[in-house]
Amino acid sequence: MLDKKYDLIIIGAGPGGYLAAERAGAKGKDVLIIEKEKTLGGVCLNKGCIPTKTLLNSAKIFYKAQNSEMYGVSVTKAKYDFDKAMAWKEKVVNLMTKGVAYQMKRFNVNTIYGEAKFVDQNTISVEEKIFVGKNIIIATGSSPILLPVSGVDKSHVITSDEMFNLEKLPKNLVIIGGGVIGLEFASYFSMIGVTVTVLEMLPEILPNVDVEIAKMLRTSLAGCNILTNVKAHKIENNRVIYLQDGKEVSCDADLVLLAVGRVPNVEDIGLENLNLEFSRKGISVNDTMQTNLPNVYAVGDVTGKSLLAHSAYRMGEVVVNAMFGTKDRMRYNAVPWVLYTNPELSGVGLSEEQARKEGYNVKVNTMQLRANGRFYAEHGNEKGLCKIIVDADTELLLGVFLLGGMSSEIIHSAAIMIESELRVKDIKEIIFPHPTVSEAIKDTLWDL
Ligand code: NAI
Repeated sequence: MLDKKYDLIIIGAGPGGYLAAERAGAKGKDVLIIEKEKTLGGVCLNKGCIPTKTLLNSAKIFYKAQNSEMYGVSVTKAKYDFDKAMAWKEKVVNLMTKGVAYQMKRFNVNTIYGEAKFVDQNTISVEEKIFVGKNIIIATGSSPILLPVSGVDKSHVITSDEMFNLEKLPKNLVIIGGGVIGLEFASYFSMIGVTVTVLEMLPEILPNVDVEIAKMLRTSLAGCNILTNVKAHKIENNRVIYLQDGKEVSCDADLVLLAVGRVPNVEDIGLENLNLEFSRKGISVNDTMQTNLPNVYAVGDVTGKSLLAHSAYRMGEVVVNAMFGTKDRMRYNAVPWVLYTNPELSGVGLSEEQARKEGYNVKVNTMQLRANGRFYAEHGNEKGLCKIIVDADTELLLGVFLLGGMSSEIIHSAAIMIESELRVKDIKEIIFPHPTVSEAIKDTLWDL
């Protein structure tokens, strides 16, 4: 017997799902969130953003300890303890996932654990239990793509999902895919002394990033052997065989990481029981995250629109506003992104190539960050670049890219400028704190 009809049922407690739950709970709505894993937080908290950034930070500390003599600091016995780094990662993940559970309680959101499936567009089953909701949000995330090459089923071939179960460090790690996931792991493992080879099939890493910047990152990732224009062909017990200029070449590998993209999780949730528009590329949604079924919405990776936790957060806010009568819509033109490699790379807006393709009359300027006092003092001869793309006709800022240091903490300011449709002359009037690396944005823009 059904005891009630929820205002909102959410399937999946990753960033898109749990944020929508918080926002709807804060509006006093009766909300149920259903999660199939044992902890809340989704890939981001359990095996994505948070654990990778925790491990990358430990490797960056280790790297600095060994490379700081020019700053007057010599560390003679720097040692990387993988077990301790993993234990710290575990502690961080635990605290963050418990934090989400606490937020659910705080906003009176009912949480249940189990696999949710659609019975119809208002009814969800979780094992034998049935729940009815006026509105449903699908927030089931995405999963790693498995490469169709021989040997992917071998036990030493893993995806980012299994990376955090690693008990000991490999000697030779081969990463297939020079995208975001591949490069973050490449940076981590190379900093702690593992021999890393990255195999990227395209002419340059990071297919959607400004080519000049992608190339600069490739040549800055100390200790990583990054091969482009090569295609993984076969995985054997201790080797990966790849095709280079039509010839078979091999490299040693006691661990292979597949990082060739992710696909939306549209299977096994009963979508076939609905008349819902979706494909392997994701669930179709409009700019309020509504599907073709008026009471069914989708947010986050499962939409295939922007596979980033912070995009999912914003989608979660938009969907709850739209659903309960506050005007809002999702915009994608000012979504910042970051690679937490060493050095970090971040960007927002259009790359030079994208802007030209879209027909803009483009003006571009770049600045080596060595010319910035704070950057040079703290990063010495490390590579760093700021690149800015402007529409010459309207003076609108189109894109900003920053390579070097902790650019992740700066890029949101450029996102605000693009989101607010600031023009070059408006930005020239903003006061940036000195000395900071952020000043490079204004300095690069000044010549335009
Ligand atoms: P991706 O799409 O970023 O990169 C995959 C790469 O693999 C591409 O460069 C592609 O050309 C290459 N590739 C495909 N097949 C190949 C083959 N057979 N041999 C060699 N190379 C091949 O996918 P990735 O890195 O798996 O990331 C998935 C998603 O997760 C991305 O959309 C990303 O935005 C998101 N993510 C974001 C993070 C962040 O914001 N810091 C961190 C991790 C993931």
